[in-house]
Amino acid sequence: MHLHKYEKIWMTFGIGSLVLFLAVLGVSAFAFGAQPPSHMHSVDSQNLEESVFSAPGVEQIDETTYRARLVAMAFGYDPGTIEVPVGSTVIFEITSSDVVHSFAIPGTNVNLMVTPGHVNMTEHTFTEPGEYLVLCNEYCGTGHQHMQMKIEVTP
Ligand code: CUA
Repeated sequence: MHLHKYEKIWMTFGIGSLVLFLAVLGVSAFAFGAQPPSHMHSVDSQNLEESVFSAPGVEQIDETTYRARLVAMAFGYDPGTIEVPVGSTVIFEITSSDVVHSFAIPGTNVNLMVTPGHVNMTEHTFTEPGEYLVLCNEYCGTGHQHMQMKIEVTP
């Protein structure tokens, strides 16, 4: 089949556009990771036992840094108490096994929404020893006002 000159030009232009379009898509996917940013720290709230939250608690990362993985639920937190030495920076990674809760430490600037399906993160450095109360600031049901946990900061 014989193509006219103009048809060839338009075909070249069409294929060129397609290649350019796919290249832009590819670069975007690369720049923002394989998944949209909102999914980067997701977790299946129905299957926490098969996630990093299967054994909630504190682990030491380096000399003064700890990671606390916590699960919020109606109406409490797992674990109910954690302990770190004074001077520690604690990276909190918190998810919910049911509804939206929060994680607030009165007297600090920690006040985090805890949403099911996400790993909600914040960090805090505990410069004073003592017992820190954690409260839920997000109405989550009939036991909401009793939902709390403790952070023991040892001297
Ligand atoms: Cu959990 Cu209010």
